[in-house]
Amino acid sequence: MSGDPVVIQGDRVRLVPPPDIGFARMTEAWVNDPFTRHLIGGPAYQMSLASREDFVRPRLTPSFDGVYLVIEVIDTPEPVIIGAIELRKITPEHRSAEVGILVGDRAYQGRGYGTDAMRALCRFAFEEMDLRRIHLGVMEFNARAIRSYEQVGFVVEGRLRQDTYLGGHYYDSFVMGLLREDFETAERARRQAG
Ligand SMILES: CC(C)(COP(=O)(O)OP(=O)(O)OC[C@H]1O[C@@H](n2cnc3c(N)ncnc32)[C@H](O)[C@@H]1OP(=O)(O)O)[C@@H](O)C(=O)NCCC(=O)NCCS
Repeated sequence: MSGDPVVIQGDRVRLVPPPDIGFARMTEAWVNDPFTRHLIGGPAYQMSLASREDFVRPRLTPSFDGVYLVIEVIDTPEPVIIGAIELRKITPEHRSAEVGILVGDRAYQGRGYGTDAMRALCRFAFEEMDLRRIHLGVMEFNARAIRSYEQVGFVVEGRLRQDTYLGGHYYDSFVMGLLREDFETAERARRQAG
């Protein structure tokens, strides 16, 4: 057995626990970036550091219903933290969970790292946790996110009409779901494509 710490490994990222409460400051910058905040559907007001600490603190320790991990890029000379990903509402009796992802550092959005992280977490959820289904919510206008999730194998299962009010407009959001076989089909197609 190697002495390396256990990490969830993608091709270009790895998923590791948040280092300490100082990580909240990083997330504060991410969620207060107007561009990113719009993509995740708000909120319309600025998030305080204290509220981010309240969010991060319970996620520093493992729990039965959630796994919160930092996305670290590993194809750079030094590892760089670029975002976070979370499996939440883990429901063992239904073998299901919800996932949320944020590549918060804009310099790293649109470069495939988020898709790689999502794939790595879904693989972990299906193969190690033996889940059957993962779902998520995404704003109708977040074309990059929808495309990214489709690449992992997610399909649109439903539209929540006008469920989010942002900047004076109502927007729909989509519920997307991924069954284990959807993931395996997408993975096979990816391997065949080379
Ligand atoms: C959504 C997110 C996880 C996607 O991960 P990513 O690694 O940045 O996505 P990718 O670079 O793999 O791009 C996915 C696809 O979208 C396409 N894409 C990239 N930028 C795009 C844009 N602005 N509009 C539409 N499609 C876009 C890519 O070309 C790619 O498709 P392709 O492989 O067929 O070419 C990440 O960008 C992110 O966290 N963004 C900020 C917050 C957010 O939107 N979170 C999700 C909330 S539900």
